[in-house]
Amino acid sequence: MLQVAVAGASGRMGSAFMEYLENIEDVTALAVSAHLVVADDFVQLETALNGDGIDVIVDFSSPEASLKLAVWAAENSKSMVVGTTGFTADQLDKLADALYPVAALLSPNMSTMMNISWRMMSNAAKVLPHDTIDIEIVERHHRNKRNAPSSTALQMAQIVAEKRGWSLSESLRHNSRWGLLGERPRKEIVISSIRGGTLNSEHTIIFAGSGESLEVTHRSQTLEPFSKGALRAARWIVRQPSGVYDLLDMLGLPEVLF
Ligand SMILES: NC(=O)c1ccc[n+]([C@@H]2O[C@H](COP(=O)([O-])OP(=O)(O)OC[C@H]3O[C@@H](n4cnc5c(N)ncnc54)[C@H](OP(=O)(O)O)[C@@H]3O)[C@@H](O)[C@H]2O)c1
Repeated sequence: MLQVAVAGASGRMGSAFMEYLENIEDVTALAVSAHLVVADDFVQLETALNGDGIDVIVDFSSPEASLKLAVWAAENSKSMVVGTTGFTADQLDKLADALYPVAALLSPNMSTMMNISWRMMSNAAKVLPHDTIDIEIVERHHRNKRNAPSSTALQMAQIVAEKRGWSLSESLRHNSRWGLLGERPRKEIVISSIRGGTLNSEHTIIFAGSGESLEVTHRSQTLEPFSKGALRAARWIVRQPSGVYDLLDMLGLPEVLF
């Protein structure tokens, strides 16, 4: 039996994950309130620890709650899967530092297909000429998404910037084009964020050349792929030595062209 503590269990993603786990026979799930964690109230986790135990914490909450949970996980030698997004660079460093003593998997996107698409765009960015192919990223989400651009879009930008040997801070721009702008600079990765209604989440990267273009799109219609990926990550991370991993490590995707 795998004992999973789910942080942010009443949120959109956390509740979908709890529902998904209800149909998995060899998993028990404990709902942990992120609000209580932020208030330094770990009573739910402590009670579980003294009872049936916890093998792994799966976190879909807020950066503030995740950071506190990471410290608790390290102090109590528990593995952790962090699906929360929206961390600043400084918070991400703190999170990784806190989690190094245990085994932890961090991924802003738990979908296997999305992670495979990252490897595809990484290869395209490496192979396509850097001085003639423009890169644009478009992401769409429901109207309640708090952060923009999405952490997944930022991860995509990071991946292609790295392959081009560009600094992300110098090349990344959020789309606010308006007016007479002249020619598009080459050394630029532009993210456009669309928010509205109940739009399903969608990420597209466009490699635009002269006379042709290539687009890689990932669409999610439900939250099931994220739940599936998070459970797979939880089962995998409890068997790993201490360290901080991502989903590509779990998938064992090699650095080669498909
Ligand atoms: N990695 C992935 O594949 C993936 C997929 C989907 C979502 N996400 C990420 O997971 C996170 C949660 O997403 P969601 O759509 O479920 O968000 P949500 O519906 O807003 O729920 C987030 C949870 O965080 C807690 N929370 C919200 N505001 C808080 C505050 N001010 N202080 C303390 N806790 C607070 C609440 O937990 P309690 O009610 O339990 O206290 C809430 O249930 C986001 O960062 C999102 O981007 C990641």
